[in-house]
Amino acid sequence: MTGLTAPGTLEREYAEATEEELAERVREAKAALGKGLVILGHHYQRDEVIRFADFRGDSLKLSQQGAAARDASFIVFCGVHFMAESADILRAPHQRVILPDLKAGCSMADMADSDHAEECWDELEEAFPGEVTPITYINSTAAVKALVGREGGTVCTSGNAEASLRWAFARRPRVLFIPDEHLGRNTAFRMGIPLDEMVVWDPWRPHGGVAPESLRRARVILWKGCCSVHTRFAPEHVDRVREQVPGVQVLVHPECRFEVVQKADQVGSTETIIRTVGASPAGSRWAIGTEHHLVGRLAQENPDKTVLSLSGIACQCATMYRIDLPHLCWALENLREGRAVNCVSVPEETRAAARLALDRMLSIR
Ligand code: 13P
Ligand code: SF4
Repeated sequence: MTGLTAPGTLEREYAEATEEELAERVREAKAALGKGLVILGHHYQRDEVIRFADFRGDSLKLSQQGAAARDASFIVFCGVHFMAESADILRAPHQRVILPDLKAGCSMADMADSDHAEECWDELEEAFPGEVTPITYINSTAAVKALVGREGGTVCTSGNAEASLRWAFARRPRVLFIPDEHLGRNTAFRMGIPLDEMVVWDPWRPHGGVAPESLRRARVILWKGCCSVHTRFAPEHVDRVREQVPGVQVLVHPECRFEVVQKADQVGSTETIIRTVGASPAGSRWAIGTEHHLVGRLAQENPDKTVLSLSGIACQCATMYRIDLPHLCWALENLREGRAVNCVSVPEETRAAARLALDRMLSIR
């Protein structure tokens, strides 16, 4: 194994091969690589890709599985860039992490630039010395995670956001929550924190655009960031589906807007959504507010229930969608030939502090 790292580009023959051919080649490459390879797949991936995942999960489950998969030399991450970065931070020294298409980013993570986050942190520290704990959603860059790690904070996912906020409030009276304002607001509100004790920090405005008296009252400072997929669900969608589908239960992801979450019957992370629908009795009717590949699979896997997308239109994560069969096949065949293409490698100076924040997350129950 030469262990080359190159930001590779897909050769034409992969783009032109049929789905059946590529699937067969992926199977062969996977078999040849054996235990030296583990493929992790996020639930929002396409069907033709997720079926090759050794483990599928939401962000929390995949980061735990990535950290536990010590036998494999290569972790191929079918997800987005911040997930591969987190796996790279948690990996053992002999392991490498590969993202089949390096352009698979996350628009939410891009909304929190680490320089902006540093400026915000400095202002908050000046206003409230020692009073703020930073929490970053895992959907953020390694540099933001490193800032949070250095300043005594933790990473969270949608699966453990409430536990993370409790952990933080047990230590200091205020929280800076980066970068998803909706996950932060929905979680804090559910824990009993009123909306007038939360402010939204806009990194593009002086002092976050927050008036001094609002900041003084704030227990939760929410970064102005959002998911381009989940914010497409609207309160009108909830009203409409209730009219059209008698007895329907509305279950949404906490990255949805506050008004949508308030109208829904239940809110939960990706794993919670899957578990809840799976455990419901035959004949149940569900309208789900999350990414449409997951909703489509839930419908297939629960043929005795009605499972619909809340919006009625395909809310798809365009960046997750970049991981397709040609890219997966290309990455695996290169590995088989001894070339590790599209490795994600977090710089050493960032790794240790970011790891601190991720390890805190993995230890919070
Ligand atoms: P979870 O995987 O934590 O449910 O988050 C959803 C998501 O948007 C991933 O990017
Ligand atoms: Fe980012 Fe939203 Fe896509 Fe998740 S679903 S990767 S938060 S854009």
